[in-house]
Formats: sequence, C-alpha cells, structure tokens
Amino acid sequence: MNHSCMLGCKPPTPDLKVPTNEALTLPPQERSRSGTIRGMSERVIPLVDQRHPSLPLPAHVVGQNLNALPRDGLRRPLTDLRISVTDRCNFRCNYCMPKEIFDKDYAYLPHSHLLSFEEITRLASVFVGRGVRKIRLTGGEPLLRKNIEILIAQLAALRSPDGQPLDLTLTTNGSLLARKAQSLKDAGLQRVTVSLDGLDDTVFRKMNDVDFPVADVLAGIEAARAAGLGPIKVNMVVKRGTNEHEILPMARHFRGTGIVLRFIEYMDVGATNGWCMDEVLPSADVIRLLQTELPLVALSPSASGETAERWGYANDQGQHDRALGEIGVISSVTHAFCGDCNRARLSTEGRLYLCLFASQGYDLRQLLRDPAQSDAAIAATLDAIWQGRTDQYSLLRSLRAPDTASGPGRRVEMSYIGG
Ligand code: GTP
Ligand code: 5AD
Ligand code: SF4
Ligand code: SF4
Repeated sequence: MNHSCMLGCKPPTPDLKVPTNEALTLPPQERSRSGTIRGMSERVIPLVDQRHPSLPLPAHVVGQNLNALPRDGLRRPLTDLRISVTDRCNFRCNYCMPKEIFDKDYAYLPHSHLLSFEEITRLASVFVGRGVRKIRLTGGEPLLRKNIEILIAQLAALRSPDGQPLDLTLTTNGSLLARKAQSLKDAGLQRVTVSLDGLDDTVFRKMNDVDFPVADVLAGIEAARAAGLGPIKVNMVVKRGTNEHEILPMARHFRGTGIVLRFIEYMDVGATNGWCMDEVLPSADVIRLLQTELPLVALSPSASGETAERWGYANDQGQHDRALGEIGVISSVTHAFCGDCNRARLSTEGRLYLCLFASQGYDLRQLLRDPAQSDAAIAATLDAIWQGRTDQYSLLRSLRAPDTASGPGRRVEMSYIGG
C-alpha cells in the first residue's frame, strides 16, 4: 500500500519506529500472538493490556433517582447502543483492518474475554431501562460470532418500559448473508446494513483485500430482501483515488430498489489505516457528482441524532419521487454531527466507549461478573458515566493533531468497537 500523502500525513503504524518503553504500552490489538510488536519481532512484549487501561468507574449515589433518563454533559440523551460481538473479520478493508497490522499473528481477544450472550442481554436490558431504543450489532464482522441467532433472539425479546420492541439491526459485510439471512430474520432481527464499496469487481476485491467478489455480497443483499430484513441500507466508504468512480454506478444500481445507499466519508478512525485528508472526498462533492446525472432534493432528518444527511431522487417537477427512493451522505469529516450524538458503544469484552474516536472505555464486564452488583446498581453507574460525557471528537477534529502514534491517547480500532 502506498501511503504517501500530499498533505504530509503520517504512514500507518508498521512504518513507525516505536521506542521500547512505548511499545510496551501498545494495545492488545497491536500485539501479535507471539507477544511481539509488529515490525519489532526481536522484542518480547507481555500480553497484558497495559496500554488501554479502563477508565475508573464513576461513583454513583446509592438510591439515586433512576426515573429521569440520563443526559450527558452536552444534554444529549442515550438512545442508541452499538454492540460489537467480535473483533474478527474475514475482510481486510484497507481503511479498517489493513493486512500489514491484522495479519495471521494478530492477537484477537481470547474467547474467555468475550461477554457471553447472557451478559450482553443483561446489559442491553439495563441500557433499555436508561433510554436505549436502538441496538445495532457490529464487529468486526458480527456474522462470524458463533450462534449469533441466539443472541438476536434474546435481544429481540427485550421491550422498552412502555412495552415496545426495540429497533434491532446489524451491520455486516454481507459475505455470510446469503447463507444466514433467513435464520437472522427468524431469530427476530429487523433489518440489516450491508457494507459495499463498489460494483466493479476488481475495485471491490482490492478494497476488501481478500479477493472477495461483488456478486456474493449482492447475493447476500438479495437474500436479506427476500427474508424481509428491510429497510436495507448499503454503506459505501468513499476513498478519493480508489473508488470515487463507483459512486454513480452504485447510485444507478440501487435507485428505485427501496435500498438506501449511503456514502461515507473516509474517517480517521483508529490509528492503523494511515488516514490522510487527501483521500477524503467531501460529501458535497458526492452530491454534486450525483446531481450531474440523477437530480436530488434535500430531505429532512427522519430522527434526531441521525448520522446520514438524506437526499431524495427527484422527479421531473423537482420533487422527491418516493418510488426512486433516497440516498444518504455521512460526513463525519466535513460536517460533523456530534451535536446530537446519542450513541454508546460496547466492545466485545464489555468495555463501554462514549465515542467512536475514544481511546479508553469503562469496564462493564467487571460489574457484570460482580455478584454484589444488581441491575439497579449497574444502571446507576451507567447514568453516572453518561452524565460525565462531553465527547465531540469530529466537531473538534481540526483542533487535534492526526493520531497515528502510540501512547495513552491512541484511539481504539473500529473493528474493535464497531462502526
Ligand atoms: P441507521 O440510520 O439506524 O441505519 O443507523 P446509522 O445511521 O447509525 O448507520 P450505521 O450504523 O450504518 O452507521 C453508518 C456509518 O456512519 C458507520 O459505519 C460509521 O462510519 C458512521 N458513524 C456511525 N456512527 C457514528 C458516530 O457516532 N460518529 C461518527 N463519526 N461516525 C459514525
Ligand atoms: N471510515 C469510514 N467508514 C468506515 N468503516 C470502517 N472503517 C471506516 C473508516 N475509516 C465503515 C465500514 C462499514 C462500517 C462498519 O464502518 O464501511 O460500513
Ligand atoms: Fe471487516 Fe467491516 Fe472492517 Fe471491512 S470495514 S474490515 S468488512 S469490519
Ligand atoms: Fe458521536 Fe464521537 Fe461520532 Fe461525534 S465523533 S458523532 S461524539 S461518536
């Protein structure tokens, strides 16, 4: 991979020279199974997570009033929980799990560290009591988690305090969807979002970096549609110089199908993808390009805290033609949407992260495995954590230096906390 950048952005981790004392503090994601740091095979690094210590859990007031739902330090509610069920993936998208880092020696979380389905469901139920109404299963690739249908069935049985089912969805690369769509639906999953970065087979195989064909993902999307896992969304990460010529073909392909295609600006998430502003195609350019052939009209948000800005395909009168459907643009880089961010992220081993760009999380597994902790006590701790939240990374991005270095401020990888 060539990471040279006109703006002088730094190369990804493998090229970094990490001094020994810093290397000792690298996160588990960056240690190989043999206990060494990538590119530093002669040095033995203990397999203990010293680099990403959990944040101390805040003290909560015993007997605290749990009636009022928590608001964070910027008055944002907690309504959306994203649960990562595995840190593994069968793709190696270079913007997410570059092969140079995530190779055969990479140390994924051992099974004993993962939350069990019962633990996830218990925690999810407590979150629902504190305002969560949407649960998204993520990864890595969530369909790689064995018996995921059992977890889905447990989560599908949860109800909000007023008896409503949750919005239960899942983000997948689609590779196993053709095989699994019906069993996911039968288990109670409502809808799926499928990642697909282009229709050109050569481009797509190169982007997933495991030579996976487009046709199999399209078959997965078709199976999801046949199983009734809708409304289906398709996420396309746009990298300038890599797949921007796929924007129009993707739009033509999905227009009028009922599938909502969303174009995502390539983000500086994690610290291993060698992100560079040069490779970001602003959403405004995506919209301009689409408008040259497919007229669009701006639509209003369908929910508060939405990540995507919606645009509808227009008819000859310049009005939204519902039969043609809509697209979305997710502009985390050029138009941050932190203002009403209502999302919390739970990692595979039970750490709670308050922002996609966080470097540390709160160890909730320790609470779950402590017999002295009742659900009410965990709820009170969640409230205290959420009330202390002031994250708005994307909004403040321009004030921060690009993060490719090691050190305690290093951001966690997206494959670890989910998208
Ligand atoms: P639905 O609209 O309910 O389908 O969910 P969503 O809009 O949250 O969609 P999804 O989970 O598919 O997220 C789409 C993409 O938006 C993700 O893959 C991320 O790239 C990006 N994204 C999601 N949440 C955040 C966030 O909190 N911050 C930032 N910066 N990007 C996010
Ligand atoms: N920038 C933008 N989107 C990303 N995703 C993964 N890494 C990045 C990144 N660096 C997206 C994937 C998928 C979802 C899980 O997150 O394409 O749709
Ligand atoms: Fe896997 Fe999704 Fe990351 Fe690609 S973006 S490597 S499919 S988790
Ligand atoms: Fe929310 Fe952090 Fe994303 Fe901003 S950058 S929208 S605070 S997750």
